[in-house]
Amino acid sequence: MANIDIAASKPEQLLGQIAERGWSSHCFSGPDLGSIVRELGRIGDCLGTRVAGRAGSLEEVIQPRTTGGAHPRSLSSRYGLGALPFHTELSHRTRPCRYLLLGCIDPGSPAAATMLLDWRNLRFSPHELDLLEAAPILVRTGRRSFYSTILAPGGVFFRYDPACLEAFDDRGRSALRLVEARIDGAASEAEAHHWSQGDILIIDNWRVLHGRSPSDHGSGRRLARILIDA
Ligand SMILES: [Fe+2]
Repeated sequence: MANIDIAASKPEQLLGQIAERGWSSHCFSGPDLGSIVRELGRIGDCLGTRVAGRAGSLEEVIQPRTTGGAHPRSLSSRYGLGALPFHTELSHRTRPCRYLLLGCIDPGSPAAATMLLDWRNLRFSPHELDLLEAAPILVRTGRRSFYSTILAPGGVFFRYDPACLEAFDDRGRSALRLVEARIDGAASEAEAHHWSQGDILIIDNWRVLHGRSPSDHGSGRRLARILIDA
């Protein structure tokens, strides 16, 4: 994966790189947390508008959490330090954020990789795409839970997160089973990003699912995260 000088890149260059494969990785030589977060913010502001994460903050530092220490409806509350399954960030919003920006403050020891998988590589047939676009799914998010579909009309975005999507009829169950099976079978299509301090990853969240390889308690892994609507 090519690393370019991100400080010198223009928004159209960034978008071109992201369009190629659904994500883009860069090296940033800033010395500390503050400078990495500022750089993520600068890139994010070029791409769109920042949106708050689950905890309500526009800038977050994420680290592996045990099941007990995580937000009740998060993937970490279910999977803890084990591998986090592929998902779309902010699946519990009616329109998930377009871009996910991650910056490595500390890769941790042992390090855990971020896994990337383009949903188009799941090779759904036209009939299966129709099912994903039509089958109603319940998106659980407390009192604001709502009904939606895995695939947005016209395939604009793909919504998948086993922590908040729930089937309530046969079509929904078929759709969720189909996605789970394809993701399980697509391990060889996924790419692992192994972090070094200062790495920045820009992910098209409407196209590329992400997950995390298993981590350890106290590994020290810390990533800055900014979410962008566009
Ligand atoms: Fe995530």
